[in-house]
Amino acid sequence: KGNYTVTMIEGDGIGVEISEAVKDIYKAAKVPIEWEAADVRPLLINGKTTIPEPAVKSINKNLVALKGPLATPVGKGHQSLNLTLRRTFNLFANVRPCKSIVGYKTPYDNVDTVLIRENTEGEYSGIEHVIVPGVVQSIKLITRPASEKVIRYAFQHAISTGRNHVLVVHKASIMKLSDGLFVEVAKELASEYPNVKLSFENLDNTSLKLVQNPSQYNNLVMVMPNLYGDIMSDLSSGLIGGLGLTPSGNMGDKVSIFEAVHGSAPDIAGKGLANPTALLLSSCMMLRHMELNDHASKIEEAVYKTIASGPENRTKDLKGSSSTSHYTEQVIKNL
Ligand code: IPM
Ligand code: MN
Repeated sequence: KGNYTVTMIEGDGIGVEISEAVKDIYKAAKVPIEWEAADVRPLLINGKTTIPEPAVKSINKNLVALKGPLATPVGKGHQSLNLTLRRTFNLFANVRPCKSIVGYKTPYDNVDTVLIRENTEGEYSGIEHVIVPGVVQSIKLITRPASEKVIRYAFQHAISTGRNHVLVVHKASIMKLSDGLFVEVAKELASEYPNVKLSFENLDNTSLKLVQNPSQYNNLVMVMPNLYGDIMSDLSSGLIGGLGLTPSGNMGDKVSIFEAVHGSAPDIAGKGLANPTALLLSSCMMLRHMELNDHASKIEEAVYKTIASGPENRTKDLKGSSSTSHYTEQVIKNL
């Protein structure tokens, strides 16, 4: 079997510890991947937050990256690096699965949702103005091309996962033009996917139903504009035990970057408290994307087994007493 090179962006805060954990586990599991470290400390070029050229080159060469959380750089003019990465590589679809971990009890069991978030525009377009002091405008930009890209991705994902049902989550009754366009594009594309059911739901209603009985969303793929997807993915994480557990993949036509849904958690950084599970499971999404399915399953099973083995092997966010390094050792033992 050949070797693969993957760009590794360790990230800020807990990023260093959790990427260390992933690297240790990959070594022990003999995953045929070599990591190429990329520094994405941001540059401000012509007033725009910019990813350093060597990092862009590495990602364009390897096509796959695993990324820890990045803090939004302080300083005038800077935008979030996470968003800059998504935009730089046109990673138009953010896939966020959320699956209960058997062996970690929450008020909900049997959650198995997939949320696909538009990843390049909406309220995240970064266009804001002060019109006059005390009156500001933040633009929610929705375009036909980006809507089409992400909705097509959702249809294809529904087919490839056998879910065969796309649910568009929106608020077109209020956002008549923007969400209206998103809904319209979905309706137009439906004829190209005759074997996939298409339905629509209002965002507020989906929120209500998700917390009442999440498993009613198990057999479909949700797709929604950017900010809704941001909020609903945190909500979903909360159903299964929090942000320490949920992975994601930022998908483009060529490049994809896999990352945890959580942020850099500077309050617990460097204390050995971080839960590397979300980044590990993101890396397993990455392995499946690279068709290294056996390695993905092996690592996922070791993770589930470790979490199920009791609070002494779980990190603090999961009401456990384990350090990051003890947890990592247990996952390695369970491989
Ligand atoms: C996420 C994060 C990011 C977002 C932040 C860190 C910019 O919350 O990936 O969900 O808002 O998209
Ligand atoms: Mn978020």
